[in-house]
Order: sequence, then structure tokens, then C-alpha cells
Amino acid sequence: MCGIVAYIGQEQAFPIVLKGLKRLEYRGYDSAGIALLENGEIKNYKRQGKVAELESFTDNQDTEGTVGIGHTRWATHGLPNDINAHPHTSGNGDIALIHNGIIENYDILKEGLLSRGHKFESETDTEVLVHLIQDIKDHEKVSTAEAVRLALNNVIGAYAIVVLSKDNPDQLIAARKSSPLVVGIGKKGDYYLASDATPIVEYTNEVVYLEDEEIAIVERNKGLRLYNIQNQEKTPYIQELELQLEALEKGGYEHFMLKEIHEQPHSIQDCFRGRLNVDTGWVGLGGIKDYEKQLASANRIIMVACGTSWHAALVGEYLFEDLARVPVEVEYASEFRYRNPIIDEGDIVIAISQSGETADTLAALELAKSKGATILGICNVVGSSISRITHAGSYTHAGPEIGVASTKAFTAQVTVLTLMALAIARNKGSLNEAKFRRIITELELIPEKVSKILESSDYIEELSKEYKDASNALYLGRGNSFPVALEGALKLKEISYIHAEGYPAAEMKHGPIALIDEEMPVFVIATKGTSYEKVVSNIQEVKARKGKVVAIVTEGDTQVKGMADHVIEIPNTDEHLSPLLTTIPFQLISYYIAVMRGCNVDQPRNLAKSVTVE
Ligand code: AGP
Ligand code: GLU
Repeated sequence: MCGIVAYIGQEQAFPIVLKGLKRLEYRGYDSAGIALLENGEIKNYKRQGKVAELESFTDNQDTEGTVGIGHTRWATHGLPNDINAHPHTSGNGDIALIHNGIIENYDILKEGLLSRGHKFESETDTEVLVHLIQDIKDHEKVSTAEAVRLALNNVIGAYAIVVLSKDNPDQLIAARKSSPLVVGIGKKGDYYLASDATPIVEYTNEVVYLEDEEIAIVERNKGLRLYNIQNQEKTPYIQELELQLEALEKGGYEHFMLKEIHEQPHSIQDCFRGRLNVDTGWVGLGGIKDYEKQLASANRIIMVACGTSWHAALVGEYLFEDLARVPVEVEYASEFRYRNPIIDEGDIVIAISQSGETADTLAALELAKSKGATILGICNVVGSSISRITHAGSYTHAGPEIGVASTKAFTAQVTVLTLMALAIARNKGSLNEAKFRRIITELELIPEKVSKILESSDYIEELSKEYKDASNALYLGRGNSFPVALEGALKLKEISYIHAEGYPAAEMKHGPIALIDEEMPVFVIATKGTSYEKVVSNIQEVKARKGKVVAIVTEGDTQVKGMADHVIEIPNTDEHLSPLLTTIPFQLISYYIAVMRGCNVDQPRNLAKSVTVE
């Protein structure tokens, strides 16, 4: 994981890099560091903990310099401490480097370097790379840029790196493979490099996304040169950023997560804007238009994803199978890639990913592509790796999601999957006109219904107080509410550190019921629909064991109200769309409980927003 950012130009680098690190902190927050080059000397400041720690540490230090590199770490090799923090420097201190990714063959490389007299300070794989560059530079008598290229030819693994070298204060060298890197072209001959565009957007909207195994050399006032790892020069493809700066601020909310929960009426709307016309009865996704027929006639569709995106895929499975009658398999990307899956040219693999950078999801797609499958993507981050390697895809248009716990990206993913299922169903003729019209009419009403649920935030905060000290929690749902139960449990786990499990409601009696006692809150989705009566029976079973039941019910419900300890009423909708509503109270409950427990909601411990390592 990790966030990397660098600047070279006429301005002071430190404030730009520091601000950039704050923007990228969602990617990792084990430690932070900045190296600056001035008057032929590299100053390297690094600190365990958040960027704020680094900021106070550097308060009275010399932070002058117009070139700098910075890093916020999510440790993979070595403890999160000051020494393992990036930037790392070569033995003689001439080269400093920041790295996002994993050098998989670092131990073999390290052995060789040790035998040649190199001494290492940290336990990281990254330090090995910077020593290797120095070693090649000294022995081959080549420039730093050439040494970087040669070193990368010896590296197995994933990297996005930026290198700063004493012997060329006007130059930064950057490269990537599997981990993302974007170059911002400033207006005054200055350059910005970062893991994503968020640190760059306020300075320029001209960017170049590096491709795998590309090396960028940026030189103050001279320009950007791009090479592949075989040393062939390439022409940079300059793109215009569409990101808005306001989207990166908290906008008056206490946390990004709360802001993002409240953004959902808009983000869902943005997601179906231009893709849905209720008056004419039309649904379409421009990005996959050419693949609609293929999707409609596919023997099977495989969805690959991780975490919350995997839950969205499970909702997608219900939608695709029920509406479009296409068989769907949902796979954890990490499992899929290592079990020699049977895939052929007739298969369509759809990857779902907020960041578009998740290493496991990317690798699963690459595997599927290599076996001839058509690969499609549903991503939120525009220009991300997944969106670039897929044959086609649809963006979720949820806007930047900064809170590590995914909220608005989930509802946007489910919205895209709904639109896709409807478009395929239309193409295939698997859905009758009346049902199709009913669903799209209801879909258009979802944003205002989400707003209505958000109006009960105070009530949800109040009831959350009663469960804030729980040590365990169970989430139950049936049908397409089961993935919502899984997602509810994940949200509670990741931000409040309460152990929680999601189960299909009917499975409870096959084991988890043994856990139920007076202390155990059970969150149940009991909205009106096919399995309503069955879920009511499951609630009875919990109450019979003195469990505490918090039920999400359809407005006007009286039956469950009489049994549950708390009910949260939500507006009625078509059953296919209910996950878009039922997930909202769960997001709010996790948020309020985490705040009451004093947890860091936006940056939960041990997690990072985009998992670019295996
Ligand atoms: C969500 O709350 C999680 N933090 C995490 O499970 C996330 O959904 C997962 O890492 C997948 O990320 P992606 O959507 O960016 O691929
Ligand atoms: N492997 C490097 C480290 O542990 C970088 C980690 C990462 O990018 O996640 O420091």
C-alpha cells in the first residue's frame, strides 16, 4: 500500500509534499517521511505514526529545498517504526527512495549486496532496492536513471518508486509496476508525482498515468521523458483531470466517513445520470454498450473482488441471475488467482473495485485475460489500473472516497450492477415490460429514499448507544439482504473493532445460535419481500434465547415492531433495490458506535484504503 508523493520545481517542496501526504494518508499511516535535497545535501525526516507526527517533528527543522519526496507507509516488511519508515537512503546517503509495493526477491538481492559489503539499517525490502541502485551505479559507472532501470530489471514484485539523487538536484526518477503512479505537469516547469491525483489536483489538471514498467524522468524546467524498462523512449499521453478539489475536503462533517454516508443520495444519482430514462423506459451503460450482447449470451459471468466490493458482487449475483437469467459466480479475487480456475474465451470476468488498484483483483483479471476471457471493470477511481487493463467497463462516479471504510462506493457499485443487470435483461428479453418499468421507476426514487433514511440519523445514533459496549454482534439477512448483512458486519468490525459476523438468517440455527445470549445484539434485515415471514421466525428464535434484536423494517411494519428491541423503518421499494436502502442504517450504526468507542473512524487500525500488495 503506502502513499507516495514528490515535487520538483520553483516552490518550496516541503509544504507541497506534506499536504500531499495528508491527502494520501488513507493509503497507510504506520509512518511518514520526507526527504529534501538542498545545496547538495539530502535531509531525511521520518517518524513512526501519522503525518501529523512528522509535521510536529519537523516544526523547527530546516525544511528548505525545491525538490522533495514523501511517503506514508502501510508496513509489509518490518515493524512500523522510525527506522523502517521511508524514504530510505543508499549506504553512502547519495540516493533517497520512496516505494509503494513489495520487492518479492529482496532476500536474494540482499544476500548479494551483503556479500559486497552493504550494510542495512532497516528490515524493509525497500532499502534493498535503494542499495541495489547505488551498487549498480558505482560498479557500472552509469547515471542514476540508468542504474534505476538496470536495478528494476532485477526486481520481482510490485513497485511505484521515486528516486532522488545528490548528483542531479534537478531531476526525479520515477517508475511503476503494479502499484500506481501519476505525474502532474505543473504550469511553471514544475512536476508533481503521486500515488493518485489527489495531491496534484490543486496545482494542475494535466497528468500522465504511468503504465507498468515505465520509467519517468522529470527535470526542472526541462520536461518529462518516458521510457520503458528496455530503455525505449515513449510519448507521454497527457490526460485532463476531472477531479474537483472540494470533493477532497470534509465539508463541515466531523469525519470523511460521515460525509460520504451523507453524500449517497447524490452519488447514487450521479451513478445513474445519463444511464436511465424512466419516461422512455431505457437503461444503458455507454462503457459496456458493445459488450451487452456478449453479456446477455454468456455461459457464465465471474465476478471478482475483495472486501466490500465482494459484497457488492454478491448483490450483483442476485440481480444478474434473477433479472437477466445469466449464471454468475462470485469469487474472492485472492482465491481465484491461486486455484488454477477453469476459464475460457466464452467467459466474462467482471472486476469490482473502488480504488481500481487492489493487487489481488488486478492479478485475477490479468489471469483471466491471459486465458482469453473478456474482462470488464466496475471502478470508482478514474484512470486506475483496473480501468486501464480491462476491455471495457463502467465507472461508479461516486467521487473520491477517503474514509477507509467503504460506504458510498458500495451503493454506487450496487447501482451500476443494477443498471447492468437491467440492460442485459432488456437485451435478452428476460424481463417483462411492466416489471422493467417498475424497477427503473423505483430506482430513480432511491436517492430521495436514502435521504429520508439519513433523516433518522439522530434516532440511529441514540439506539447505537445501547450497543456500543458489545463484544460481538450478529448480522442476519436473506436473499439479497445476506450480502448487506455481511457488509454491515464488516463495517462494524473494521471501524469499531467489535467482532461481528454476517449470516444468511436461516443459517443461524445451524451454529451461530449457540452464541446468542442477553449480551448479543443481532441486527436483522426484515423488510417486506419474499422471505419476510421466514425472517420473522428467525427473529422469534433470537428472542427466545434473549438476544437483543435491532431490525430494519419497511415503513408501517407492525409485526416485527412487536418483537424487536429496536426497529429502524425505511421506505418501501422494489425488493431488487432494497440493498441500496438497508445498508444505510448499518453504515450509520457502525459509524456512531466507532465514534462512541473513541476509534479513529477514517483511518482504522491496521487497515489502508487501497491494498496494492498481496
Ligand atoms: C471496505 O470497507 C474495506 N476497507 C475493504 O474491504 C475494501 O472494500 C477492499 O479492500 C477492496 O477495495 P477496492 O474496492 O478498492 O478493490
Ligand atoms: N514494502 C514496503 C515497506 O514495507 C512498502 C510497503 C507498501 O507499499 O505497502 O515498507
